[in-house]
Amino acid sequence: MYAMENSEFLSSCSADTIKLAAHSLINGNLVAFPTETVYGLGADALNSSAVSRIYDVKGRPHDHPLIVHVHDLNVIDEWVREIPEYAIQLARDYWPGPMTLILNRSKIVGDFITGGQDTVGIRIPDHPIALALLNSFHEMGGVGVAAPSANRFGHVSPTSAEAVSLEIADYLGNSDMILDGGECQVGVESTIIDCTRKLPNILRPGAISGEMIEESVNLKVKDKSTRNNIRVSGILEKHYSPMSKVFLDQTPVAGQGYLALSNLETPAGVTRLASPSNVEEFARVLYQSLRRADELNLQSLVVQQPEGEGLAIAIRDRLAKAVNGR
Ligand code: TXA
Ligand code: MG
Repeated sequence: MYAMENSEFLSSCSADTIKLAAHSLINGNLVAFPTETVYGLGADALNSSAVSRIYDVKGRPHDHPLIVHVHDLNVIDEWVREIPEYAIQLARDYWPGPMTLILNRSKIVGDFITGGQDTVGIRIPDHPIALALLNSFHEMGGVGVAAPSANRFGHVSPTSAEAVSLEIADYLGNSDMILDGGECQVGVESTIIDCTRKLPNILRPGAISGEMIEESVNLKVKDKSTRNNIRVSGILEKHYSPMSKVFLDQTPVAGQGYLALSNLETPAGVTRLASPSNVEEFARVLYQSLRRADELNLQSLVVQQPEGEGLAIAIRDRLAKAVNGR
């Protein structure tokens, strides 16, 4: 256990710790917790004042919708209505997992979750600590946990408990907690799929690719409507940004940071941030590399983007936003 001034930072997630955290959520406090994608900052999704604190801690505009996290497919009926057949198929195939479904919301969902929209994002994360927390919360009478990524608005999502602490510890209260589940295995946020129309529509690319969706539901997937009237903060410009200026697909020069696949060499005087050997590892180290550039006070860094489909699309999507800078 690692003590912090303002909140508890718990690295030993015993059953008791999880219970304590679930109880804390029930009592209206915030709990940051690991998921397979990135760390989330959780609050009881039915408690408007707890959810309101998420926005304060993140410094995020109040009309940006949040994803509701649950532990089991059986409980999603509480949150949504008119689930299309293809969405049920996706849920069966890829939950728990790095996928968020946007569905028509049920009556219990407050405007403070959806930013006033008629839809709600829902996800079952694939991480033992997240699932244990959600399960315990459910046993105590909780219905779902609203959780955005546990970073300040516009910053890079945290993929370790240390990164969460650096981002938001100063804004947490004495009764809030950060659960430590080590490094996130996926490293980029979940694929967001709008399931309110005839065909699934990818709003944010992630580890569940368009190809995987088509394979599951046997329907044509619309790709990424980057500009529509649904508010997805991930599609705002200037998002996922480190302080260090990001350049793409150039040859780095002395003094710059460099993130590229391991087959590419590091020119003299360049600080290598990571050398992932494949696209999965690239996603896993992406945000931690951007953070490292800031820790090292690098003015700029170059990223040689991975080519191809699947997770590479998600990586290029986040980098395109990081390029816009703060
Ligand atoms: O992997 C993830 O999805 C992580 C982990 C913690 O689960 N969460 C995450 O949350 O990335 P957040 O809030 O940082 O990003 C969720 C995105 C936001 O851009 C939000 O606008 C969008 O999902 N979103 C949520 N509800 C929505 C809705 N009803 N319609 C459209 N977009 C929605
Ligand atoms: Mg986020």
